Amino acid sequence: MSFLRVEDVVAGYGAHDEILKQVGISVEPGEIVSILGPNGAGKSTLLKTIAGLVAPRSGTVEFIGGSIAGLRPREVSRRGVVFVPQENNIFPSLTIEENLEIGGHLAKAEYREHLAKVYDRMPDLAARRRLPGGALSGGQRQLLAMAMALMVGPRLMLLDEPTAGLSPTAADDLFGMVSAIRHDGVAIAMVEQNALRSLMVSDRAYILVDGRNARSGAARELAQDADIRRIFLGEA
Ligand SMILES: Nc1ncnc2c1ncn2[C@@H]1O[C@H](COP(=O)(O)OP(=O)(O)O)[C@@H](O)[C@H]1O
Ligand SMILES: [Mg+2]
Repeated sequence: MSFLRVEDVVAGYGAHDEILKQVGISVEPGEIVSILGPNGAGKSTLLKTIAGLVAPRSGTVEFIGGSIAGLRPREVSRRGVVFVPQENNIFPSLTIEENLEIGGHLAKAEYREHLAKVYDRMPDLAARRRLPGGALSGGQRQLLAMAMALMVGPRLMLLDEPTAGLSPTAADDLFGMVSAIRHDGVAIAMVEQNALRSLMVSDRAYILVDGRNARSGAARELAQDADIRRIFLGEA
């Protein structure tokens, strides 16, 4: 039994469009898994399908042995799978702490405990907790979005391009935080454009092309693969 098991998933937005034509991924407990591929391949759609924002037309989406296919996002979160979308993932006019309260509304009983853990892990946010989210840098905003998701006390976090628009240094910091969160026992599945850096912190990776699985394997091996380096890094 896999922790997260997605198999033969077909999904799209309208009645007739098929964005995911036949996709499968798995994530094991405590793993970091990268999902890579060209623009429009369906990577975000795959995360949204796992998170309950898009209903699969067919196929399997299971988490810890139970089907989560077609469940509402809130119910998927309750089961321990949280999704951090690429954009508009914080409330800029609310303070950092208010953002975290919203993140924690599904786990009210553990609010204090989760808040203390998040502030311990992300002292920059603790220091700025009375400031509006909109006052944060791009990298800190992304941290806040992840912190909001952590307030649920998740087992699996889905990240959509967490380093998009960040400077190389801020991206490195963010990948460092992804590793730290995994260390705390949360598995991660992340979509990234920053393919090589993403592979460096991942255990395994999947490459999607046009709504289908193209390649998959150990991150270390894919990072050495000539085809992958040519496609993602422009090497000859
Ligand atoms: N909300 C939406 N409604 C209709 N089509 C969409 C929507 N979001 C994405 N698509 C289409 O789905 C395809 C895959 O998009 P997406 O999953 O965002 O790809 P990726 O994240 O790999 O770049 C694209 O052709 C895109 O135009
Ligand atoms: Mg995307």
